[in-house]
Amino acid sequence: MDVAVQQPVLPADVTTTLLDSHTYANLDLLSSTYAWLRRNMPLGVAKSRNFDPFWVVTRHADILEVSKNNKVFHNGDRATILTDRYTDLLVRYLRDGSPHLARTLAHMDDPDHRKYRALTSNWFTASNLARREEAIREIARGFIDRMMARERECDFVTDVAVHYPLHVIMQILGVPIEDEPLMLRLTRQVFGNLDEDLNRSGETVVTAEQGLKGLQEAVDEFFRYFDVITQDRRIRPRDDLATVIAQGIVDDAPIGSFEAMSYYSLVSTAGHDTVSASTAGALLGLATHPAQFAKLREDSELITRLVEESIRWTSPVRHFMRTATEDYTLSGQDIRKGDWLMLCYLSGNQDEAIFEDPLAFRLDRATNKHVAFGFGGHMCLGQHLARMEMRVFFEELLPRISHLELAGEPQHSKAVFVGGLKSLPLRFTPV
Ligand code: HEM
Repeated sequence: MDVAVQQPVLPADVTTTLLDSHTYANLDLLSSTYAWLRRNMPLGVAKSRNFDPFWVVTRHADILEVSKNNKVFHNGDRATILTDRYTDLLVRYLRDGSPHLARTLAHMDDPDHRKYRALTSNWFTASNLARREEAIREIARGFIDRMMARERECDFVTDVAVHYPLHVIMQILGVPIEDEPLMLRLTRQVFGNLDEDLNRSGETVVTAEQGLKGLQEAVDEFFRYFDVITQDRRIRPRDDLATVIAQGIVDDAPIGSFEAMSYYSLVSTAGHDTVSASTAGALLGLATHPAQFAKLREDSELITRLVEESIRWTSPVRHFMRTATEDYTLSGQDIRKGDWLMLCYLSGNQDEAIFEDPLAFRLDRATNKHVAFGFGGHMCLGQHLARMEMRVFFEELLPRISHLELAGEPQHSKAVFVGGLKSLPLRFTPV
């Protein structure tokens, strides 16, 4: 991308902050950086030695406009998550010129995107998911029982939040329970690739090669695992999502095994850490806002608001990238064909133009038009499932605790893409 001189270029220190994975573990710093950008340079270009220049899109209205316009702003043409030049070259080398390690919905554009999304979109409708609500409630109860057995203290993330959505998504996919630890490990290695507490090597990542190696090994292990599942479901169909994917037909032919495996990997990864992070975020919000917790205990109708507010407040998907397929004027700035744009969802959800008192965790927001699920053609396929999992969880949890407080310092992961709490020590009083 050749960025013209007149384009607004972010101050070097702001770019450095945005590119540093430590920033994402420090929400005050991340939020104040976004606030500065929204106020001073809502559409600015980040330039650095190791990354191709990219537009940083921080206002709610601009994120919506780009997300809705799937013809102009593509997912597939360049990396869909922020990737440095060197890693990009390595990925293209490994994948015969493609900028993506996998070929999921998030990497496709129309017409393929529409066709592949149609394979499972009925599965993810609220009405189809309703028949799974009781099974999900059972799973939620099991984890809440485990929490209650913890003698009034737990680390909500490691004891509950990382396991509950994983178990739900694995049951929906049809992955046997004994393989869940493997799925948990691989998901955390993919999303926590830059965090030595979560990644594959357990070491601090200092080079792009090191980061990519861990990521590629995790993706390849996912693929090997799901290849076996595909073969099985093609011969022995069951009532699970794996069967829907394995038997998927696109353009009158069975979908390729790379696409099928990409599909499973997307569902199992996208459907897990995101819900963990928002559920843990809800508990953090309630533990640190006792008045909101008290209101919620009095009025269970507020659970729907709690779910929406927690998803907004945590915005676990920090960004997605888009690539302009033609010249386009966005809020007065000239975006050129080939330009790369970073949609900062957390920033959109902290935009003062849309949300009153945006950093506050509040259950009195009558409308909550957040962009945590994205928007437009790629809007989160699993949004109804995510909402149902959280609603059911809180319907079960709230009658069982009367008091909630922090029992230690919460810690966030250093994840530039999908992140959230990695530790939330809680003290609670069972009813
Ligand atoms: C609170 C939880 C969740 C959040 C915040 C979230 C957020 C997102 C975001 C921001 C996107 C990109 C949207 C865009 O590009 O416009 C996305 C896409 C996607 N999500 Fe979620 N997600 C969550 C839960 C889930 C769950 C439970 C699943 C279920 C399996 C899921 C599956 C997907 C899939 C398959 C896509 C790709 C859709 C496409 O490109 O067409 N997500 N999600």
